[in-house]
Amino acid sequence: MTASTDTSLMEVQDLSIHYRQRRSTARALNGIDLEWKPGEVLGLVGESGCGKSTLARTMLGLEDPTTGKVLLEGNEVSDRSTRSALRKRVQMIFQDPYQTLNPRQRVSEIVAEPLRVQKVDRKLHQERIERALGEVGLDPERFLSRYPHQLSGGQRQRVAIAAALVLEPEGLICDEPVSMLDASVRSQILTVLLNLQKSRGLALIFITHDLSLAWSLCDRIAVMYLGRIVETGPATSVIEKPKHPYTEALVTAAPVPVAGGGGRRELLKGELPDPSNVPSGCPFHPRCPQRFGPCDRVLPELVAAGDPGQSAACLLHGGPAEEAQNAG
Ligand SMILES: Nc1ncnc2c1ncn2[C@@H]1O[C@H](COP(=O)(O)OP(=O)(O)O)[C@@H](O)[C@H]1O
Ligand SMILES: [Mg+2]
Repeated sequence: MTASTDTSLMEVQDLSIHYRQRRSTARALNGIDLEWKPGEVLGLVGESGCGKSTLARTMLGLEDPTTGKVLLEGNEVSDRSTRSALRKRVQMIFQDPYQTLNPRQRVSEIVAEPLRVQKVDRKLHQERIERALGEVGLDPERFLSRYPHQLSGGQRQRVAIAAALVLEPEGLICDEPVSMLDASVRSQILTVLLNLQKSRGLALIFITHDLSLAWSLCDRIAVMYLGRIVETGPATSVIEKPKHPYTEALVTAAPVPVAGGGGRRELLKGELPDPSNVPSGCPFHPRCPQRFGPCDRVLPELVAAGDPGQSAACLLHGGPAEEAQNAG
């Protein structure tokens, strides 16, 4: 499952997205740095509202960064030619396939749509559509003429994945792709995605609040809190030996036992603060069971902590805290 090369498929550098509202500014993303390698399965985890979907939309060029950059193989997606390459090379699927599928289109039209929009030679359409449907486990003969309402939830998500595949992308961003599906269908859809990762070498971003899913599926995980990445590293390191108290709290509170977790909520008190009123210092400090002196004043940076490739933005592991303490 590890990435095949050192060059990144996409990169995000010091990315911020601030939404100006009437009386305040919602700081949805703040200084995000992230690398997504070819063929890599990257997990984005964190509570609802921490900025996962905003990050995904910005990576796809659907939102313009307030500051910072999004790169496709080193080229800024704000350039027109790169943005148009991005439309073919990276696709996205969403939580609710019923909302994303046009109810008036048949499966054949839904899956053909990206080919039509990108002006792919018509002679290739039939073959591409049938291949994509085959890869998601839908028999073209039975499904091509159906409408979304004639499909089950799992079949709808399969159609959405097929539509994402027809342009033969290198990357697929999956925003909570199974959270609305029945447990029995979930593992089937996950198997479809993982098989695609293997057979096509497809890079996946897997957005989920389900840590056990991220643990079993991902090569690497980035944990987000209030629009920041607070911990990142190999999936097993981050989940089994978390270095940020927030990750530790998430693991402990996970409903399914993951690496020592087991539905105990005591570590994660209170609600996620409003992004238009982010706490000073470390944004997690008001909820943190391990906070100490400078946490309400000093913003921790991501620093190496734990296993190779693992880092955490917590003053327990150094960063600007020592300077701040020395400074008085
Ligand atoms: N268009 C917008 N205008 C104002 N605030 C927004 C907008 N889009 C998202 N937000 C806010 O940004 C934060 C992150 O949202 P989102 O990326 O959807 O989080 P997640 O996907 O992790 O649940 C939330 O507080 C949300 O309310
Ligand atoms: Mg979301």
